[in-house]
Amino acid sequence: MNPPPTITDPLVLFMPSGKRGRFPVGTAVLDAARQLGVYVESVCGGRATCGRCQVEVQEGNFAKHKIVSSNDHISPKGAKEERYERVRGLPERRRLSCSAQILGDLVIDVPQDTVINAQTIRKAASDRVIERNAAVQMCYVEVDEPDMHKPLGDLDRLKVILGKDWGWKDLLVAPYLVPQVQKILRKENWAVTAAIHRDMESSRPFIIALYPGLKNEAYGIACDIGSTTIAMHLVSLLSGRIVASAGAPNPQIRYGEDVMSRVSYVMMNPDGQGAMTKAVRDAVNDLIGKVCAESGIDRHDIFDCVFVANPIMHHLFLGIDPTELGQAPFALAVSGSMQFWAHEIGIEVSPGARLYTLPCIAGHVGADAAGATLSEGPYRQDRMMLLVDVGTNAEIVLGNRQRVVAASSPTGPAFEGAEISSGQRAAPGAIERVRIDADTLEPKYRIIGVDKWSDEEGFEEAAKATGVTGICGSAIIEVVAEMYLSGLISEDGVIDGALAARTPRIIPNGRTFSYLLRDGEPRITVTQNDIRAIQLAKAALYAGIKLLMDKQGVTEVDTIRFAGAFGSFIDPKYAMVLGLIPDCDLDEVKAVGNAAGTGALMALLNREHRREIEQEVSKIEKIETALEPGFQQLFIDAMALPNKVDPFPKLAAVVRLPERKAPAEGEGGDGTPRRRSREDRAARRARD
Ligand code: FES
Repeated sequence: MNPPPTITDPLVLFMPSGKRGRFPVGTAVLDAARQLGVYVESVCGGRATCGRCQVEVQEGNFAKHKIVSSNDHISPKGAKEERYERVRGLPERRRLSCSAQILGDLVIDVPQDTVINAQTIRKAASDRVIERNAAVQMCYVEVDEPDMHKPLGDLDRLKVILGKDWGWKDLLVAPYLVPQVQKILRKENWAVTAAIHRDMESSRPFIIALYPGLKNEAYGIACDIGSTTIAMHLVSLLSGRIVASAGAPNPQIRYGEDVMSRVSYVMMNPDGQGAMTKAVRDAVNDLIGKVCAESGIDRHDIFDCVFVANPIMHHLFLGIDPTELGQAPFALAVSGSMQFWAHEIGIEVSPGARLYTLPCIAGHVGADAAGATLSEGPYRQDRMMLLVDVGTNAEIVLGNRQRVVAASSPTGPAFEGAEISSGQRAAPGAIERVRIDADTLEPKYRIIGVDKWSDEEGFEEAAKATGVTGICGSAIIEVVAEMYLSGLISEDGVIDGALAARTPRIIPNGRTFSYLLRDGEPRITVTQNDIRAIQLAKAALYAGIKLLMDKQGVTEVDTIRFAGAFGSFIDPKYAMVLGLIPDCDLDEVKAVGNAAGTGALMALLNREHRREIEQEVSKIEKIETALEPGFQQLFIDAMALPNKVDPFPKLAAVVRLPERKAPAEGEGGDGTPRRRSREDRAARRARD
């Protein structure tokens, strides 16, 4: 036992946590970390055999912290550490913190393999580190052999040594393990590694798995169950490294394209819920098989699973009938976070593995939005952050340190290419970028899988492999915005038929007109109905955002985060020209990829993040757009491009927006009485 530290003892700072303290000379770095609550992995319990406790000394004068840190301030490698280095190898500058002792002031870097970066999230704004403090810990012990004079059971002696060496108290044991304990203990001469799971400090820890000898591996999965796609990371719980990531289509699509049609399927088919629950669980199991095969990892070495999903996917995954979520008041069966044995949910991993689901925010704002909120952290910001996840149902979170509000808005599937005459999901061959020359009104476009623009030499040749198949979500936004910027459509979204005199690309289509984007096979046009569908979708989203801004009492937001696959592909400038999102500095609009999945990853690797989001979700104010009287007017105003009443000065500073038409006398701010009543009906449809 070391004496208590004094003011003259060396000062040690741990990074990236920033925790610091004074420790007597001779204290093991690992002990110092533990005393400060800095999480450093250790499986062998300081025997210098597992190599999990590695740290690095940062050398230099850290004036801000008043620390001069040097390799001379840490003890040289001893016999045990040298043996480890000889047998297993140690990267340059790495030390085993269980063996290295403090001799002077130090800055110690605890390597965290999980950095959210371009590999994890497309176009991430910055690299961010997830500090590890997983719910599962691997603990190697050497159990006393049985003694006739001390008739304590094998399992009880295991618990005693886990208490003595690792400090575990009140251990429970996963029931499946009890009959196996005696055999496992004897296999490696009473040396075993126990996987211990403890989520909350207040909960009793569980022995969830037991292995003969040293077991130096433990994995977890972080999974986002989307209506369209299931995305998964397989992660080492000991190093934080993402060992594999994969995605697969959600097979529930065969029961309904969007979540509401899946609820309808449940309502109309007695076995509907069971079939969809089985389908999603099978898909998750297949995906686990895929990430394990890719990385050569045994699925039984997965001990912890974290899931996020929208409310309907969440309920179906957990085997809960989602019928109540299909109608007001959109009652969730359970909104809080949930804990299960993974096998209870049919997930095929270690028989002792645990499963955690993040809390849902509201009836239409799910655990996926909670994950994105944890990842982007509006509640950690001084500035007003808007977080939008665009799907068939957009989830919107707006707030800062003081207050966070959330809502969902029924955008429908138009942004995903459905309801659009030439629309399709993003796939090779789909048009993803569009530009229209304002003088000639001629378009050019790019397709997924080909770098050249359609007017460049070699495009047709390069596009032969896939063909040009349709327009995906990002291009639908761009083509409508470009049509507006080039004067092909008015701010009310009406295609100007008079332009048929100037360009053969404006073609009559019944009582309206279409714009010919591509002449050939297939012929791709943008119809008046396509533009209406996009207007309805963007108006629903914008009206939801505005409701939240009104609740916050703000007329502008400081920063915008686009979560989800759709957000990764759309160009913020065009999203703003269309009036999908409020006016904001374009530099402040960032795509953050699958932020929901990142939230799941954070909750997997650090159980404190689970407490953090549980607490934050309980504070988030939920707004039900369907019940807000102001929604209809906001929706009608948002039908115009970019908006009938809201100015977009920051956008106008960088993009030349067409002149606004002043409303004619006797005309409402939203156009003619006939159109007004049509939009009224649309607003009511969206709201209901
Ligand atoms: Fe295992 Fe240091 S704790 S090598």
